[in-house]
Amino acid sequence: MDRIDLLVTGIGRLITPPGDAPRCGHQMKEVHEIRDAGIAIHEGRILFVGTAQEVMSLLANVEITATINVGGRMVTPGLVDPHTHLVHGGSREHELALKRSGVAYLDILAQGGGIHSTVQSTRAASEQDLITKAWRSLNEMLLNGVTTVEAKSGYGLTLLDELKQLRVAKRLNDTHPLDIVSTFMGGHAVPLAYKGRAEAYVDLLVREMIPEVAEAGLAEFCDVFCELGVFTIEQSRRILLKGLEYGLHPKIHADEIEPLGGAELAGEIGAISAEHLLAATDQGFAAMAEHGVIPVLLPGTSFNLGLAKHARAREMIDTYELPVALATDYNPGSCPTESIQIVMMLASLNLKMTPEEILTACTLNAANALGRGGDIGSIEVGKRADLTIFDAPNLAYLPYHFGINHTYGVIKNGHVIVW
Ligand code: NIG
Ligand code: FE
Repeated sequence: MDRIDLLVTGIGRLITPPGDAPRCGHQMKEVHEIRDAGIAIHEGRILFVGTAQEVMSLLANVEITATINVGGRMVTPGLVDPHTHLVHGGSREHELALKRSGVAYLDILAQGGGIHSTVQSTRAASEQDLITKAWRSLNEMLLNGVTTVEAKSGYGLTLLDELKQLRVAKRLNDTHPLDIVSTFMGGHAVPLAYKGRAEAYVDLLVREMIPEVAEAGLAEFCDVFCELGVFTIEQSRRILLKGLEYGLHPKIHADEIEPLGGAELAGEIGAISAEHLLAATDQGFAAMAEHGVIPVLLPGTSFNLGLAKHARAREMIDTYELPVALATDYNPGSCPTESIQIVMMLASLNLKMTPEEILTACTLNAANALGRGGDIGSIEVGKRADLTIFDAPNLAYLPYHFGINHTYGVIKNGHVIVW
């Protein structure tokens, strides 16, 4: 090696979880820290990382194309948001008064609002409308320090409309600096045209939609809203197993409001992750731990729904040694925010997670919830050079000083894109 693309110096604290694998339970606290660090980057990947002195000695006879000095700030892996409903039309502020008057989330849905309202707006939107709207959200995420985001379909609920959403996600992945990972979520709600005929819609999903989506190569994962009044455990199992048969790895919106046994199902079918989990039982946690399922917790959603109940993160971590991840769940209904930093604050406040656990949950464990632990989520030689530079003196400062954006810079694939 006689030349490198970029040298990052002046790193007051480099903080990262170690390795590639999900960090389980107590390991989530064990982050690595290097004071006065340097990172050498070449062709979008990390070539050396260590103290500034170590890195400089390795670069003694190497031409350095560009150097940035981050002025003593804190550098972490680029954040990963592993659960969003990024691509959708319209918004739902018209439901705010209804919500404030005490009407529950599932009741609004049962009355034909909620997800159904967004389905209508999404079907009516052109691909360009959807791109323009999601593009702005991606910019917000990037400014928050996020470098990879998952995006679910599920506001089309017909083959053509689901494919439209997934094509938009692909176009965004091809054109926006952020990486977008697609999940097919045709099982997001029973469409109004199938009201009272959920089984017939599940037939359509497994016979037509899943095979077509897989054939089009537009999704890596398959997700379902397993909830009372939405999809039952049996229907969810059918959908996810069919997805698996077609190479779509299962994810599941599980036990958010009612303890249906979604966490147990996640264990049974070997889902990569189970999300929400506010109502999940101890048996559910045990099933997840036994089968290596990653719990993706969404404290922004419970906060925004005004729920008194929160996911039992402390028990998941301390008792079941689970590798907890965090995500925004960005969507127009239950969590209209792109801000992962607000989620970090809420993970501290309501889930009682420590700053180190929060970092691990938003980086390496989140990367593993997307099957990308070997490529992103930690600052390691050979990994993608995705880095977030925070204008904060330490990790605890992020959830502590809330409501502002602490991001000072973002490096994505070795390119400085926010500064
Ligand atoms: O994860 N729970 C189901 N899906 C989303 C909400 C979607 C919506 O309300 O538009 C969630 O919270
Ligand atoms: Fe969701």
